[in-house]
Amino acid sequence: MRRPRRVGILTSGGDCPGINAVIRAVTKCCLGEGMEVVGIRDGFMGLVERRVMPLGDAAVAGILTQGGTILGTTNRANPFRLAVEEAGQRVWRDVSGQATQNYYGLGLEALVCVGGDGSMAIAAGFLERGLNLVGVPKTIDNDLMATDRTFGFDSAVANAAEAIDKIHTTAMSHHRVMVVETMGRNAGWLALSAGLAAGGDVILIPEIPFDIEEIFRVVVARERSGKRFSIVVVAEGARPVGGEQVVAKRIEDSPEPVRLGGIGLRVGQQIEDGTGKESRVAVLGHLQRGGSPTAFDRVLATRFGVAATDLLREGRFGEMVCLKCGEIATAPIKDVAGRQRLVPPDDPLVRAARRLGVSFGEPREPD
Ligand code: F6P
Repeated sequence: MRRPRRVGILTSGGDCPGINAVIRAVTKCCLGEGMEVVGIRDGFMGLVERRVMPLGDAAVAGILTQGGTILGTTNRANPFRLAVEEAGQRVWRDVSGQATQNYYGLGLEALVCVGGDGSMAIAAGFLERGLNLVGVPKTIDNDLMATDRTFGFDSAVANAAEAIDKIHTTAMSHHRVMVVETMGRNAGWLALSAGLAAGGDVILIPEIPFDIEEIFRVVVARERSGKRFSIVVVAEGARPVGGEQVVAKRIEDSPEPVRLGGIGLRVGQQIEDGTGKESRVAVLGHLQRGGSPTAFDRVLATRFGVAATDLLREGRFGEMVCLKCGEIATAPIKDVAGRQRLVPPDDPLVRAARRLGVSFGEPREPD
């Protein structure tokens, strides 16, 4: 197939640092190769509602270092199952046909979709409808299949680690237990990496259910050995053995209606009650997703944007760019769609942390 003349780009799902670097790279490369670029606003909703902005050289000037996305995004809308109000009632409608019509009506010949696993599932649906799509993996959770890294993750780890560093000094001064809750719904990569980077003593991740008694034991043992403070890093999706994740709220019209949060407070209270050690809790929340991308993420996002343009030029639709052993590679979007790459309990990072004495709160084998 000849190269597309007019290309759309949209950013979908939760924002993260580095999205603008992708938009910039795709726009610059496409323009350089004679392809026109149209920005679709607010993810797939912009395609449903035909909300677009032209992307020229001037539009992407100076955005490399900016967090967020100049196009806007949403993690609440799936055109294949969109919540709409009709006669005062919420009903679910498939508006993907309208989005498809707009794709052709806008004169698009290809679309770059920057998103996570949920967005890639939507992209896979549009591929089946015949749209020419290429994917770019984005999320602070680093949990997309087929890629060693998503862009945005490094920045989120840096943000979380910096926050935990600050919490460390106050924990030491007050001889307290400080519990820090990070994001990470099903995958613990963020809590694990930030916890390691900032010297967490206990790291609780969704993949390794914890026993609260074991955390008490670690805190008390540290106290007895003269370390009068402890840092507990807990991913929002962590849960006790046999227990459930803590749900902060439900957003019924969202493709993923559950938002997690609250495990940090619960663990902090339990530690105070169970050990008598004064405990405090900090929830890092959206701070982790905000701000300027790290240099690593700027470079990775730029490489991904350049590689996505190569796919467009070569007509290799249905592929997502990815990073494998430091090299740019590709994978079929359908293989990535809706799937998550979780932390294996024997991952090298987990093993390294254990060697340093970090506890994952696993129940002890009986003596
Ligand atoms: O997927 C990215 C992420 O930040 C998750 O880590 C978190 O669970 C979720 O998004 C939060 O979503 P929202 O921005 O809707 O609160």
